[in-house]
Amino acid sequence: MHEIRPFVIQQDIVCAEVPANPNGLVVFGASGDLSRRKLFGSMYQLSKHNLLGKRFYLLGFGRKEFTDEQFREFAWEGIQEGSSDISAVDLESFISRFYYISGDYDDVSFYEKVKKRLGELDKKYDVDGTHIFYLAVPPFLYSTIVKHLGSAGLSCPADAELKQKVRLVIEKPFGRDLASAVELNEVVHRCFDESQIYRIDHYLGKETVQNILMFRFANAIFEPVWNRDYIDNVQITISETLGIEHRSGYYDKAGALRDIFQNHMLQMLALVAMESPTSFEADHIRDEKVKLLRSIRPFKPENLKDVIVRGQYSAGTVDGQKVVGYCEESGVEGDSMTETFIAAKLFMDNLRWKDVPFYLRTGKRLAAKDTEIAITFKKVPHSMFVSVGLEDMPANVLVLQIQPEEGISLSFQAKRPGSKVCMSTLNMNFSYGEIFGTEVPEAYQRLLLDCMVGDQTLFTRQDDVEMAWQLLKPVMEAWESGGKPFEYAAGSESFAEADALIESDGRKWRKLSGI
Ligand code: BG6
Repeated sequence: MHEIRPFVIQQDIVCAEVPANPNGLVVFGASGDLSRRKLFGSMYQLSKHNLLGKRFYLLGFGRKEFTDEQFREFAWEGIQEGSSDISAVDLESFISRFYYISGDYDDVSFYEKVKKRLGELDKKYDVDGTHIFYLAVPPFLYSTIVKHLGSAGLSCPADAELKQKVRLVIEKPFGRDLASAVELNEVVHRCFDESQIYRIDHYLGKETVQNILMFRFANAIFEPVWNRDYIDNVQITISETLGIEHRSGYYDKAGALRDIFQNHMLQMLALVAMESPTSFEADHIRDEKVKLLRSIRPFKPENLKDVIVRGQYSAGTVDGQKVVGYCEESGVEGDSMTETFIAAKLFMDNLRWKDVPFYLRTGKRLAAKDTEIAITFKKVPHSMFVSVGLEDMPANVLVLQIQPEEGISLSFQAKRPGSKVCMSTLNMNFSYGEIFGTEVPEAYQRLLLDCMVGDQTLFTRQDDVEMAWQLLKPVMEAWESGGKPFEYAAGSESFAEADALIESDGRKWRKLSGI
C-alpha cells in the first residue's frame, strides 16, 4: 500500500546563503535587554553557521560600567540562556571579539573614543571601514546618537564609496506619531542616506512572514483567487499571553497601537494584500507595500468606534497563573488609559480588495499565544446538495500560521465513507517543524545578516513608516482626546466590544489556536 502523506518535499530550490562582509558591529545599548536576549545569540548562530567570518568584531556601548571581560561574561550568559545548541569552544572564540566602552550618549568625547577604537579594531580584524551602527536603545535617544555619529564623521553620507559600507540599524517604534517620525527621518537623513538606513520590524524577519511572499508569488494557483471575487474576509491576529514584562516605561507611552499595530500588524497586512512586485528586490517590494498602505480607507472620527476598539486587561488568570491587571503592573499609573488590546476593521479601496473586510486584532494577556493570518473564501454560490439538507456549506479557510506552531492549513469539504451524501470538513496541515525538521531561526539572525550584506528588502523604508503613522493619526487624536479602553479579564479570549465589531457584519472571530 502506498503511504499518502499530505506534504512531502519533492524538490528543493536552495540559494546558498551569502555570508556577511567583514564588518564591525557597533551596538548602542549593548548592556540592555534586547542585546542580551536577541542580538548576541543571533550573531552567535550566524558565526556557528559560518556566515560571519573571522574578520568581524562587536563593539558595545552602554551607560553601564563594564570592562571588556565583564561585557563578554554578560553576553555569554545571554547567549547561553537563549540557545540550547552551544559549543563552548565556538562561543569562546566568538565572544573574544567583543569589546565595550561605557559613556554618556550625549557626550561628544564618547564618540571620539568610539572613532579611535573603531580604527584600532578595524586594523586588528582587517575590516575595511564597514561599520554597522545598531541602535538598541530607547527611542528617545535615537536623534542624539545619530547627530553625534554625524558630527564625529562616522556616518559618511557624502562619500559614495564609504557610504556603501556604513549602515544604521534602528529598532521600532520609529517615532510615536506622524510628526515625530517625519522629524526623526529628517534628523537621520542629515547624517545618513536612505540607502544606509535599516529600520527594523522584526516580524519581517520571521520565516513564516517571509513565506507570505513565496506562497503568493511562487505558486500560480493562489493569485487568481486572491481577490474580492473569491475572498470573503481576512483575519489577522497577534495574540500574546505575555503582559508588559519590565517595560512599563516604554509600553505605557506606546500602547498596542504603537507597539504592534502600526508596525507588525500593518506589515503583515501589506504582504498579504499587496500587488505582485516586479522582482524580489528591496525597492520593488517596498514600493508595493507602500502602495497598499496608501489604499487603506482612512479612519474617520465620526465612525471610529464602529471600526476600531481598544481594551485594557484587568486581573485574571493566564496559563493557570493569577496575574495582575495592567494598572497594577509595576511602573504603571493606577489610572492609565493605555490600551493593551485592539480590534479593527480595515478596507482597501482598490480594485483587488474593494469591500473585503480585513479584521485585525492584537492584545496582551489573552488566552493563548497565536499569530495567524486567516483567509476565508466565499462559500459556494449554489449548493447542489440542498435537497439533502446541505444548504449552507462551510467556507474554505486558508490559515498562514505565523507562530508559535509555524505552518499552513487549508480546510475543505470531502465525502466521508458511508451514506451517499455525507461530508466532513477536513484540514490539510503543513507544519514547518515536521517537514523541514529544523528549528525555525530567530528573526534577528535573518535581519542582522541581511544588513551585513546590504540587503534592505526586509526593512521598512521612510515612506512606509510615515504612511502607517498617517493612517493611524485620526485614531490617536481621537483616543488622546478622551474616552477610555474597555476592560477585559487577563486570560480571556473574547469580549463583547471586539465581538460587536465583527458580528455586526454577520461574522465571528476565529478561535485562538492552542486553547
Ligand atoms: C515587540 C513588542 O515588537 O514584539 C512586544 O514590542 C511584543 O510588546 C513582541 O511582545 C512580540 O514579538 P514576538 O516575536 O514574540 O511575536
